Amino acid sequence: MQSFTYWNPTKLIFGKDQLEQLKTEIPQYGKKVLLVYGGGSIKRSGLYEQVLNQLKEIGAEVFELPGVEPNPRITTARKGIEICKNEGIDFILAVGGGSVIDCTKLIAAGAKYDGDAWDLVIKKAFAAEALPFGTVLTLAATGSEMNSGSVITNWETQEKYGWGSPLTFPKFSILDPVNTFTVPKDHTIYGMVDMMTHVFEQYFHQVENTPLQDRMCEGVLTTVIETAPKLINDLENYEYRETILYNGTIALNGMLQMGYRGDWATHNIEHAVSAVYDIPHAGGLAILFPNWMKHNLKENPARFKQLAVRVFGVDPAGKSDEEAGLEGIDKLREFWSSLGAPTRLADYQIDDSNLDLMADKAMANGEFGNFKKLNKEDVLAILRASL
Ligand code: NZQ
Ligand code: ZN
Repeated sequence: MQSFTYWNPTKLIFGKDQLEQLKTEIPQYGKKVLLVYGGGSIKRSGLYEQVLNQLKEIGAEVFELPGVEPNPRITTARKGIEICKNEGIDFILAVGGGSVIDCTKLIAAGAKYDGDAWDLVIKKAFAAEALPFGTVLTLAATGSEMNSGSVITNWETQEKYGWGSPLTFPKFSILDPVNTFTVPKDHTIYGMVDMMTHVFEQYFHQVENTPLQDRMCEGVLTTVIETAPKLINDLENYEYRETILYNGTIALNGMLQMGYRGDWATHNIEHAVSAVYDIPHAGGLAILFPNWMKHNLKENPARFKQLAVRVFGVDPAGKSDEEAGLEGIDKLREFWSSLGAPTRLADYQIDDSNLDLMADKAMANGEFGNFKKLNKEDVLAILRASL
């Protein structure tokens, strides 16, 4: 293992009927609250009404930023920043999925920054201060509810980047599985694919002696694999939703990644794809990840074999590490297909016309990936295999 410091200040509030805790959490930060949400799912589910009632009871003065897009835009964050600056907002409450939370993180930091918030995303400037914010999560996927990362899209320049700061951890996150009951089947599947890929990004590293981390990663993966087929046929099952919600948070709150750095190359390639084509993040990942794996199988066949045997039940008898590893990758693809996830870029009508553009965008900061450094040729090979 490598030396590490683990710090995660987010208060996690998990379970049924926990929304009331807004009334004890928010008053610590002030009265003027900016409520940030997406395209309307929280109004249809009734959660919007419930949140407003809680805010009313504590006498909060509520301002609203609706309409945060999936793959949240810098333009929307700028609107939120303007409200914070003009109205002297004390606290931001994000109610929604990863996109709403990611947008809120940029609003929180941008509200305390004099220049344009895009500077923070492209790391031209670093946040020195941020408004406090909390979240009510409605979709199990990104882990944004308990990490400091945020992914923002600039549609004008076709750029999508991740950024983060120690100041952009939520103060608290309320996770009630019931609030995820209304997530439609396709986004439920994407969410589960996303959390599995977060584990893969961390599992593929080149550091020695991580037996507990390996088992924890494998535990998350096997739990999702066991629960996913049941959940997609029973979307309002509390126990399945609870299991998946908890998995999503554990997959990306830093706990699995103690003592090593994950790879994160496939996320970088996916962000380049969805910067050019506005596709769901995990739809892109489901297509790309098995091809990243095949491309890098030779880098450490024993690790791929371990995954294949322990998570996908591959019998290694009489097989080389590479053969067993490859069988595991095929089983992963089969599993995601059985859920209904896409398998090829063609599923999103993406052909080879922008491969070069996407590869250039992925290469914006030079070679990347910690398991294996990828250059432009590698990226093009993975994209071509994904057509
Ligand atoms: O906008 P509304 O109307 O709320 O609808 C959303 C949206 O259309 C809907 N939805 C959410 N909760 C619902 C619901 N529909 C019915 N009932 C509910 N309870 O689902 C759609 C997708 O929502 P979104 O927030 O975009 O999904 P997700 O949570 O998967 O977030 C995706 C974004 O997160 C970024 C991705 O790149 C993408 O931009 N990521 C953020 C990460 C992080 N901060 O750590 C890491 C991830 O790897 C990822 O890159
Ligand atoms: Zn992801």
